Amino acid sequence: MGINALKKQGMRIALDAEDFIAKHSVTDEEIISLKKKFISIEELEPILKKREEDAAASASEPEKPQAEVSLPSGFAPMAKEYEPEITVREALDVTGKSRTEGKVDDFVKYFRNRYERLAALLRSYGGKYPEADLHGISKLAGQKVRVIVMIFEIRETKKGNLLLQVEDLTGQFKIVISQRDEQLFQRAKTLVKDDIVLISGKVAQPFIIAEELEWPDIPVARERKKPERDLAGVYLSDLHFGSKQFLGQYFNRFINWINGRGENRDLAGKVKYIFVAGDIVDGIGIYPNQEKDLDVVDIFKQYEMFTDFVQELPDYLEVLVCPGNHDAVRRAEPMPALSKDILGCEVHSVGNPSTICVENLEHLMYHGTSCDGWIATLSHLSYDRPEKVMIECLKRRHLSPIFGAHAIVPEKLDYMVIEKVPDVVHFGHVHKNGYANHRGSLIINSGTFQDVTEFQQRQGHIPTPAKVPILEFQSNKLRTLDFTR
Ligand SMILES: [Fe+2]
Ligand SMILES: [Fe+2]
Repeated sequence: MGINALKKQGMRIALDAEDFIAKHSVTDEEIISLKKKFISIEELEPILKKREEDAAASASEPEKPQAEVSLPSGFAPMAKEYEPEITVREALDVTGKSRTEGKVDDFVKYFRNRYERLAALLRSYGGKYPEADLHGISKLAGQKVRVIVMIFEIRETKKGNLLLQVEDLTGQFKIVISQRDEQLFQRAKTLVKDDIVLISGKVAQPFIIAEELEWPDIPVARERKKPERDLAGVYLSDLHFGSKQFLGQYFNRFINWINGRGENRDLAGKVKYIFVAGDIVDGIGIYPNQEKDLDVVDIFKQYEMFTDFVQELPDYLEVLVCPGNHDAVRRAEPMPALSKDILGCEVHSVGNPSTICVENLEHLMYHGTSCDGWIATLSHLSYDRPEKVMIECLKRRHLSPIFGAHAIVPEKLDYMVIEKVPDVVHFGHVHKNGYANHRGSLIINSGTFQDVTEFQQRQGHIPTPAKVPILEFQSNKLRTLDFTR
């Protein structure tokens, strides 16, 4: 959110306190946790002390055991017998590493990082023509080349062809995609601004006439990993605790089920992991007049509802959580993990996006806020089929390529690049379940536990609340349990 957003929400911050916040990188969560309307430097100083205490405590103290939830008789969950296997890919998570000042130079470095990493991927696939830089390409007139470029502008010519203004790290040039090449033309119609692609073709001054177009994408079908243990993961998102539309009755059914008090007990007993891809709470001040849609107007009380939920889970379960656009972290992406103070319980809190290896399966977890920009840009995408949007991200190996469609923080490393080939890709945000398999990567959009909102009704968007996907890792069997019934 930042200082300005906090001020807009009615918080008053003294000038010297603002300096202190900048100097010590005090986070929004730390400021909110003070529970004060007026923030002076005296209020802030204890934050530093608390940081030291927390660091010392986490280094020396064993984790507090959760109060044990009693399981019904006859429910002997297999998952209880196994220790968790979780590795957070820290290098791909922005948490604790955000240092950018958002200057022009930071954006230049950010785009260079994106270009270099995606270009390396594209280069690794090779090609039939030699690679050329755009600088000096006009000297290669008549030759066939391949170039790795970022799309700067896409225009339709009077003749109905596509004219791309492109650039690489050495210069700019133009590329023509003729509508006579029907297949290529249709592919090119899904290009977006800032895409990084490999284009092969003939240099014919002042253009390259394209013959082929490739996105970095996932390498073609690979062998599926088969985890050794017969455990399962539950995929949730968009709980929106605190909203009037939060479907508590259905959510309680889910809690009962996971505690072995429902049907499919064998499956419930296999669940070892619960992934929550953001929008844990409905938040405050996320959109104008949000108060009228809130049951709980205090953000801490909203997160207490989450804490209560975690405490109602069997203690052998592992919960992995990333924030979404309704949560109490900065709005721009990548987002750092929610703090323990905010969440109020022991879970694996990771950034948005993040990559986590669970049971030897690489999980890419991202809230999915960029879906809005994708759907507004490409006509074949809609809120009804979120899995199609997710495929577009995988094709680009990037979660949010369209600059300006959604706020991005220009970190030195572009955390939105999909560095590792994911086995499971988990999004939320659109409140609609969706599944697909793209070149061996399983795509899951986990829907919501929030009922349809007025805004969605006006948009004609029909969410699918309380339908929970569960993946059995060993067999790769994905089921959706409907808790509305
Ligand atoms: Fe949401
Ligand atoms: Fe969202």
